[in-house]
Parts: sequence; C-alpha cells; structure tokens
Amino acid sequence: MIIAIDGPAASGKGTLARRLAAHFGLRHLDTGLTYRAVAAALLVKGLPLGDEAVAVEVARNLDLAQMDKSVLSAHEIGEAASRVAVLGELRNELVKLQQKFAATPPGAVLDGRDIGTVVCPNADVKLFVTASVAARARRRTDEILSKGKEADYASVLEDLKRRDARDSGRTVAPLKQAEDAHLLDTTEMDIESAFKAAVDIVSRARLS
Ligand code: DC
Repeated sequence: MIIAIDGPAASGKGTLARRLAAHFGLRHLDTGLTYRAVAAALLVKGLPLGDEAVAVEVARNLDLAQMDKSVLSAHEIGEAASRVAVLGELRNELVKLQQKFAATPPGAVLDGRDIGTVVCPNADVKLFVTASVAARARRRTDEILSKGKEADYASVLEDLKRRDARDSGRTVAPLKQAEDAHLLDTTEMDIESAFKAAVDIVSRARLS
C-alpha cells in the first residue's frame, strides 16, 4: 500500500505521515529531507543553489538512510531546499529515488509537495493536508519556541507566505492538490483529531 501526502510547509503533514506509517505498519519517507540534503551539500561546498550539475551529482549519491533530520530541519536549509527544488533535472533524480523507496514492500507513506501528482500518481490513498497560513505560522512559531529558540510570529508568517508562493508557483511539479486527493484542512483541528480523520480516510479508501 502506498499513501501519498502533500501539503504546504508547516501543515502538519510530516507528523501525520509518520503516525500513519506506524499505525498501518508501513515505511515512511519525508521527501522534503531529500531536497534539504541536496541544498545542505551545496551550502557546505559554498556553491550557488542553482548549480544543477553538482545538485544532480549529490542526488545520485544520496543515501536515504543517512539523512539526519535534526541537522536538515534548520530554517536556512528549508529556504535553500525550496530554491533547489525548482531545478528540473534534480527533481528527476530525486523522484527516481523516492519511487524506488515507495515500491519496496510492504509499502510506504511519502510526504512532500508532488507525491500524489508526480511521484506516486497511482498511490492507493492520497491526502492533501493544509491549514490557513495564520494557523501554520502560529504552530511553527510555538514549535520553535518550545525548543528554547527565538521565534517571531510576524517573520515566520512572512517566511511561510514566501515559501508557499515559491512552492506553488514554480513551473516544475508545483505544490497542488491531486484531483483524486482527499482534502484534510487542519486549521481548526489539533494533531489528535487530524490523525483520527486521516486514519478514517485511509481505512475507508482501503475498503473501497
Ligand atoms: O517539507 P519541507 O519543508 O522539508 O520541504 C523543503 C522544500 O523542499 C520545500 O520548500 C519544497 C521542496 N520540496 C519539493 O519541492 N517537493 C517535495 N516532494 C518535497 C519538498
């Protein structure tokens, strides 16, 4: 079984994907980490984020098991990832890796921006998880503060708006809801209600 989860930054799709994978006994891939890993490699080498030849080379040698979420989740790496994500050839390489992961038994939950539309168009269940930008900014701010770091709601909000515009506005594989995806708007939900709603959607889809 393959479950495809897409949605904008800070929509809660990552938490839902991880919990759904545990609940249904599937493997999980946060595909945002693959873009982040490539961006981080370019940053470390001091290369421009538009250097597609190097980006593709890094992608070809990427080991999914070695991606360290605690390092890659840094804010500036997310920004850089959103920039490298416009490179078409790079996306082709990463999509191949992601599809290989999805095809490995017993199946998987993948989350990202183009899973239902490009990576796994034949997924058994597709979810498009979203929330208002204000709700997402509030959650992201609280999350950063809870780690003892500084965060300012207004600048988090501006960052999210910029990232939404870049992720939805690019020509290659933009963030968009697949026609056959179930929409899960979590603006008024806490994580438990969102998880229950997602389990319901997946369980119903498995029966049909
Ligand atoms: O989900 P995230 O914040 O870790 O993703 C970082 C960036 O990577 C995001 O701004 C856009 C890009 N991305 C993408 O283009 N396609 C995906 N499937 C996942 C992420």
